[in-house]
Amino acid sequence: MHWTNDLIFLCMLDKYLISMHNARMSHAQRARTSSDVCFVRAYAKINLTLDVLGRRADGYHDLATVMQTVDLYDTICLTATEDSRVQLACTKPELSNEDNLVVQAAHLVRQRLAIRQGVLIELHKHIPMAAGLGGGSSDAAAVILALQQWWRLHLSLSDLLDMATSLGSDVPFFLTGGLALCEGRGERVTALAPYWPRSMRWLLLLKPAISISTAAVFRNLPASDYSDDTHSRAVSRALNAGQTPQLEDLHNSFERSVLGRYPEVARAKGDLLQAGAPFVRLSGTGPTLFAPFSELANAQKVQEQLQSQGYEVYLSRAIHPNVVDVNVY
Ligand code: C5P
Repeated sequence: MHWTNDLIFLCMLDKYLISMHNARMSHAQRARTSSDVCFVRAYAKINLTLDVLGRRADGYHDLATVMQTVDLYDTICLTATEDSRVQLACTKPELSNEDNLVVQAAHLVRQRLAIRQGVLIELHKHIPMAAGLGGGSSDAAAVILALQQWWRLHLSLSDLLDMATSLGSDVPFFLTGGLALCEGRGERVTALAPYWPRSMRWLLLLKPAISISTAAVFRNLPASDYSDDTHSRAVSRALNAGQTPQLEDLHNSFERSVLGRYPEVARAKGDLLQAGAPFVRLSGTGPTLFAPFSELANAQKVQEQLQSQGYEVYLSRAIHPNVVDVNVY
C-alpha cells in the first residue's frame, strides 16, 4: 500500500504553518495553521466477494474479500477551532455523537502525536448508514488521511494501519481504496491491479429500507455458510490478469442467511432481477444490493423502474481514488 504525496491532491490557498512543538510541553505537538479549513471525500465500497472462513478465538471472523470503492461519497469538512475539543456536526442528527468513528479517529490521531489543536468535523452524509457500503469506516479513514495532510503529520505506514485497525476491520482498506483483496479480520490489504470489467461499467446500488447490524449478521451466520477463500482468490487472479471474473465466483457468504432473515432484501433482489438486472449480489453484510451493467441506458432504465416502486437506488461506478480529495483552504 502507498499513500505518498503524489496520491494526495493538496490545494494550498493560504499560508500554511505547523509548529511541531509547544514551548510549555516539550512532548506535545500543537498544530498551528493559518489554513483553517480542510475538505475530504470519503468513498463507499462494494464487496465483489466476501468469503467468511471461520470464527476466531477473539470473536471476530477470518475473511477473504475483494472490495472496490465506488463514487458514492460523504463530504467531510475539518475546521480548526480555538479550543482543544473535537466537535462533530452531521447532517444525520443520529450520527452527531462521540461514538461516531470520525470523532474517534480525530482523538486517536491527536493522542498518538500529543496534539491539542481543536477541530470541528462537519460530516455531510450521502452514503446510506448501516448498509454494507462501509460509510462509517470510510469516513474514519478519510479523517486520518486529511489530518495527516492538513497538519503535515509524521505518521508511518504502521502508525496509520494501527490506528485504522483499532477503529474497525474495514478502515485499513479505505486508507487506499481502489480495488483490493482484504484478509484476516479485513485489515490485511493487498492492492489489486486497478482493472474493472467493461461488463460492470455501471453499478446500481439498491438500499432496502432497513438497517442491519453487522455484528448481528456475523452472529447469525451458520457455520454451514462458511467458505474457503477460493472465490476471492479466483476473482483477484482474474482481475489482476485483466480478465472478467466468473459470475459464480462473485460469492458472498452472508447472502443466503440475510435473504432468508430479511424478506425486504429478498424482495428487493427479486425486483431488481425482474426489472432487468442481469446479476445481483449483496454488498458486505447488507442490506444494500449491487447490480452491474455494461450499458448506462440499461442501468438507468432499471433504476427508474425501481425508483417508481419506491426503492432508494443509486447509479454509481467503480472509482480508483488515486487522487485523495484533500483540499486545504
Ligand atoms: O471491526 P468492526 O468494528 O467493523 O466489526 C463490527 C462487528 O462485526 C464486530 O464487533 C464483529 O462482531 C463483527 N466482525 C467479525 N469479523 C470480522 C469483522 C467484523 O466478526 N472480520
